[in-house]
Amino acid sequence: KGQDDKPITGEYIDGVLLPTLIKPGDVVALRQELKLRETDVFVATFPKCGTTWTQQIVKLIWSGGREDGRDVDEALPWIDVTKPHELDDMPSPRGFKTHLPYHLCPGGDPRQSPAKYIYVYRNPKDTMVSNYHFSVKFLPEDMPWSNYYKMMLSGDVYFGNIFDHMRGWYIHKDLPNVLIISYEMLKKDSFNMIKKISDFLGYQLQDDVIADITKLTSFEKMRGNELANNSWMDKYRREGAGFMRKGVIGDWKSLFSEEESIEIDEIIKEKLSDIGLVFDYDP
Ligand code: A3P
Repeated sequence: KGQDDKPITGEYIDGVLLPTLIKPGDVVALRQELKLRETDVFVATFPKCGTTWTQQIVKLIWSGGREDGRDVDEALPWIDVTKPHELDDMPSPRGFKTHLPYHLCPGGDPRQSPAKYIYVYRNPKDTMVSNYHFSVKFLPEDMPWSNYYKMMLSGDVYFGNIFDHMRGWYIHKDLPNVLIISYEMLKKDSFNMIKKISDFLGYQLQDDVIADITKLTSFEKMRGNELANNSWMDKYRREGAGFMRKGVIGDWKSLFSEEESIEIDEIIKEKLSDIGLVFDYDP
């Protein structure tokens, strides 16, 4: 794919646009050389689907519901920007966040991997709106929403086409080492979803510990927690919109036109209905 006519810069691998920090060769090296352990945990997402939230949940599951002094990105580093042997000395259990699509996931095909994978999806309309507010520093100045919306549909955004990303992971939902949850499930049923994650990771935590983690990972608590609010990323955001921006279901209504909303419903019907992936748009 040519890039000169593209509004955001970066190199492509398999048609998937990578942020400038990541080169295609790095993705290949991580895929082929990274040695995974049985205790490794991936939090995999298309950007803005609840990555940080889930990282914080995993971190607190490991520590029994207490802050251990580590920032989310220190506890579960963004593996996509590392080199294969950089994390060899990291003590187990290791956690990683990745935004790469299933077929490019670091460490090779999850089907042959000893690691565990938590994939979090979010309804695509809210995901697009959250990305729009976040991506402002990567976009030509003052790009209007309607242009960004078209760009999202073309797939020329970091980590590629949102529907392909969700499809690629979701079809592996029945693998024993893959857990698929949604932002909306986490929001509406936090306690049970956190329990599900903890069970999946093999930590049979008591209900009072799960309740503590539920409280500590609320939007308000995370927003005020320097170890979990990613405030260093605020420079990438639209003025006044911190990383912990709104944290709600349904904000898509603030930017989507009726036509755009219908178009998304149609694309989803066409691209995702056969695999049973359905989305929740209601607060
Ligand atoms: P909004 O921009 O819609 O507010 P990611 O971590 O994948 O980049 O996702 C960021 C999105 O998750 C942002 O969405 C952010 O506000 C939201 N978020 C982060 N922590 C959250 C929490 N504890 N509860 C609800 N939403 C949360």
